[in-house]
Amino acid sequence: MIQSGAEANAVAAHYSRRDLESTILDALVAAGIDPERLRAEDLAPIDEFHIGGRKATLELARQLDLDATQQVLDIGSGLGGASRCLAREFGCRVTGIDLSQEYCQVASGFTERLGLQAAVSYRHGSALDLPFADASFDLLWTQHASMNIADKPRLYAEMRRVLIPGGRLAIYDILAGEGGNVHFPVPWAREPGISHLISPQQLRAHLEGLGFEILRWQDTTEQGRSWFRRLSERTARQGSPRLGLHLLLGADFRLMAQNQLRNLEEGRIALIETIVRRPVSSSVA
Ligand SMILES: C[S@@+](CC[C@H](N)C(=O)[O-])C[C@H]1O[C@@H](n2cnc3c(N)ncnc32)[C@H](O)[C@@H]1O
Repeated sequence: MIQSGAEANAVAAHYSRRDLESTILDALVAAGIDPERLRAEDLAPIDEFHIGGRKATLELARQLDLDATQQVLDIGSGLGGASRCLAREFGCRVTGIDLSQEYCQVASGFTERLGLQAAVSYRHGSALDLPFADASFDLLWTQHASMNIADKPRLYAEMRRVLIPGGRLAIYDILAGEGGNVHFPVPWAREPGISHLISPQQLRAHLEGLGFEILRWQDTTEQGRSWFRRLSERTARQGSPRLGLHLLLGADFRLMAQNQLRNLEEGRIALIETIVRRPVSSSVA
């Protein structure tokens, strides 16, 4: 059941916004930031498109003993905040892949502005059909992308295929909670047709079914809930910041953010961070 062309287009259309790069550059200028002297931290409110932002990326990365020898693939890399962070902070060489051509272009533009183009590059493509040879990467990294992908067996099998034997996969994802159906729109989908959440138990079963060894498994829902509460309280007090994910998602971002918090408060979504290892040898094809 590989993602149909129509579904892939619907997901890409959800994230695409015409003139995204100039919209962000204009917002940076309005916030008093010179795009010609951009610093990584200037982009953090925009290029870390997941609950917890840059802090969540660093917390997961610090558990991985990363170094300059590591070839990393970031699946569903978005605007590239995490991929650049892994290169800058830990010296890794990172490839990002994303279904949105526009996100790949904007991610490449920011990477050049930050002088990281020797270490980080982006490919337009699908996580379900990764354009890489078997065993190409030491580490796979993915945050908040699987929610748009229905074919989980194919997704995790592709990840396993491109990972070296003994290589690790780090996942930080939104999963289905026990509180019932999600309220839409949410930041990953305006309607249920492109939202495909599975439960933590199902995720674990997919990974273990492919022979992955679970090295770490953490439910971070409560942390994410607190982070989101603080964000919405700040927005209620001070209004929307100039720089934020509304620049990516447009006018209905406010409702998406309200629903995201409501879904967290009502236990409709859960957050899991896990690090798993592809066994050095295994009978799974
Ligand atoms: C919520 S964003 C997260 C982006 C990034 N991982 C981050 O945390 O900043 C989800 C991303 O997953 C990408 N995506 C969704 N389905 C995909 C697929 N089948 N293949 C590759 N990327 C996909 C979307 O285009 C989008 O950029």
